[in-house]
Amino acid sequence: MAARSLVLLGSGWHPRLFREECRALLGPTETLHPRLIFVTQVESVLERISGASLVDDVIHSTSRLWVYEQEISAAAVATCVHEWAESFLPTGSFAVRARRLGTGVCGLSRREIESEVGAKISSDQRPVDLENPESEIVVILAGPGDSSGHWDDAQQNPLILWGIRDGSFPGTYVGTSPTDRPFFKPVTMDPRLARLMVSLSFSRGTPSVVVDPFCGTGGIAIEASLLGLDALASDLDSRMVEGTMANLDWAGGTGPYRVERCSADSIHEVWGSIEGCSFVFDPPYGRNAWTSEDGLDVLLGALSSAREMCPDGIICTMLPSNPDSLDGPISDQLQVMGLGWAEMRSKITESGWDVHSAIPIRVHKSLSRLVVLCHPSD
Ligand SMILES: C[S@@+](CC[C@H](N)C(=O)[O-])C[C@H]1O[C@@H](n2cnc3c(N)ncnc32)[C@H](O)[C@@H]1O
Repeated sequence: MAARSLVLLGSGWHPRLFREECRALLGPTETLHPRLIFVTQVESVLERISGASLVDDVIHSTSRLWVYEQEISAAAVATCVHEWAESFLPTGSFAVRARRLGTGVCGLSRREIESEVGAKISSDQRPVDLENPESEIVVILAGPGDSSGHWDDAQQNPLILWGIRDGSFPGTYVGTSPTDRPFFKPVTMDPRLARLMVSLSFSRGTPSVVVDPFCGTGGIAIEASLLGLDALASDLDSRMVEGTMANLDWAGGTGPYRVERCSADSIHEVWGSIEGCSFVFDPPYGRNAWTSEDGLDVLLGALSSAREMCPDGIICTMLPSNPDSLDGPISDQLQVMGLGWAEMRSKITESGWDVHSAIPIRVHKSLSRLVVLCHPSD
């Protein structure tokens, strides 16, 4: 059956980063709700998002109903889904799975939607099977108030959306626990975050290679290799170099990798010049988190060396910042690694890159991190 459309349901952890990840992997998309993205079905979409970090579910053959002021009953929703099912639901067993986002829609409960829709559609050709259905109808009751603790300016108009779950999609990325790896240190990045940063670096196209000049235990290089990408990892600390190598060998990714000991300001000398690089890294932060300038020179040295190595590359990095960044758009005064954000942006520009986007993540009460994407400055 030809699918009419595709909707991606994003993780509730950080809807803005979910949408940014989809944009990086797919190009322009339509936002229906902070956690729902509509894409025109083209062959390669599923392949391109198969390694995404923040996509929870993929729903195809979707239809939807915007619910503004009017009330709507579960029976009325069931009638709409039934009409749709006549054309789009394959014969065979099915189950209805409802989800609420935010405050949901018109006080409708998941339970009543599941039973009303199931009862309306059920027939000899399409019996309900909750255990092992051939098709799963997903009904999403998407309302406002889907607060993740991260500021978001996307519209949250209530809508009811339904379609068929794509059973081949693996779901939200979890990865393997870093403590299971042969070499672990507390600096190790959460695999979901490392995967997300690699995805974001696709925003100028598929990279030829992922370069991490501060590889630590290899969290980012592992995700690149698991995605089948070439990875070049380096660190100043030889224990980290050995540990990253052990972790990469253990992870068994299909992408080839190399690991070297070198200072981040001389990666261009070690790796030579390579086109189409993604530089994805988590620089050292110094002792006092976002108030500290300890790591600033190291960061700027890495940026200059990256530019020299690959003038058409892309940077995806994560910088410590004051948690004020979580309450609204980022101000020029926001403290990022000991500098105001406007001054930090100028320093980044002087090193050959322009900030394309900066999205904060809550770490704890007194610290957030900015996920910063940079493109070449000319
Ligand atoms: C925050 S950790 C990176 C953690 C890493 N993303 C992971 O998943 O394990 C920063 C790393 O930068 C390294 N480092 C510090 N100064 C450096 C420099 N000048 N050049 C290269 N690496 C450096 C440290 O040894 C440390 O391993």
